[in-house]
Amino acid sequence: MTTPLRWGVLGASRINRRTLPGFRAAGQVIAIIGSRDRERARSAAAEYGAERFGTYEDVLAAPDVEAVYISLPNSLHAEWAVRAAEAGKHILCEKPLAPSTAECERMIAACARHGVQLVEAFMYRYHPQWRLVRDLVESGTIGGPRLLRATFSFLLRDRANIRLSPELGGGALQDVGCYCVNVARWFLGEPTQVRGFALDLQGAGVDTHAAAVLDFPSGALAMLSCSFETASQQIVEIVGERGRIVVPLAFVALGDCRVHVIEGGTERVETVPAADPYALQAAAMERLIRAGEPVLTPGADAVPTQAVIAAWRQGG
Ligand SMILES: NC(=O)c1ccc[n+]([C@@H]2O[C@H](COP(=O)([O-])OP(=O)(O)OC[C@H]3O[C@@H](n4cnc5c(N)ncnc54)[C@H](OP(=O)(O)O)[C@@H]3O)[C@@H](O)[C@H]2O)c1
Repeated sequence: MTTPLRWGVLGASRINRRTLPGFRAAGQVIAIIGSRDRERARSAAAEYGAERFGTYEDVLAAPDVEAVYISLPNSLHAEWAVRAAEAGKHILCEKPLAPSTAECERMIAACARHGVQLVEAFMYRYHPQWRLVRDLVESGTIGGPRLLRATFSFLLRDRANIRLSPELGGGALQDVGCYCVNVARWFLGEPTQVRGFALDLQGAGVDTHAAAVLDFPSGALAMLSCSFETASQQIVEIVGERGRIVVPLAFVALGDCRVHVIEGGTERVETVPAADPYALQAAAMERLIRAGEPVLTPGADAVPTQAVIAAWRQGG
């Protein structure tokens, strides 16, 4: 029996609603929540059962905190991850790890220098439906993957949202396009070419509507899109010579999931019971820290993701 992992949390953000109950479901302890605002910190600590609250600096200075969870706006991830590494804390950082390859590399170097772990919170990879899809693809059920389609979109018009702020590292590409790039790289490896469009349809100074085609050494192609301009959608389809797999609740999967497998002209639907990917991610982080067991989302994986996003934004 190991002692439960003890967390410090930077920011009273909205995503805490999903992640922090996941820590507790994994049997871990929220030692302290830090906020810029004392009242917000107090109320978040009460809501999520944290032992105490304080400022971001209090979180990093806390001797009983082993790991820090960073759910700040994207543009602040690098600064606070470097400070957390300097304070000797392991780090679970929200996706995208940071909105540029240079910032990701700075975070990775700081963590290596201080001997702490860095994990990117692409929680979807921990959902059991993806174990099923990986097994189906690896066992050759659909033949070699030739085409991967991924879309993640929702309608966003609220100018106060961090996602529409250029200063805070917003944009559809960084917010939801990063999932599409991540899943394409997971199944197909690193692309040789990226041809993309990234449009700012709201004049907000960030891309809000984007699509790209990626070409891989195997001859496979990926068609990716992300948007703040269309109705909600989060779907991945992997097509091989013999069949295809459709994952309709690909990224934020909160209930039972249905994975469609179409082969030889017939379709079967595999139901994967509801699971908490945030709790599974937290448990994986604990195994990494306690036993050195590799995670599905190491911080280093963010660099090639950001390289693809940069190429997509440039158009290719
Ligand atoms: N994995 C997932 O399922 C998932 C889902 C949604 C979002 N995310 C990621 O989580 C991160 C936060 O997203 P969110 O939607 O939770 O954001 P949010 O609700 O706007 O929270 C961001 C928090 O950052 C703090 N902050 C510090 N400086 C700030 C500034 N200048 N402007 C605004 N906030 C500032 C604030 O906390 P205090 O005021 O309390 O300090 C704020 O509550 C992003 O990186 C996002 O990509 C991940």
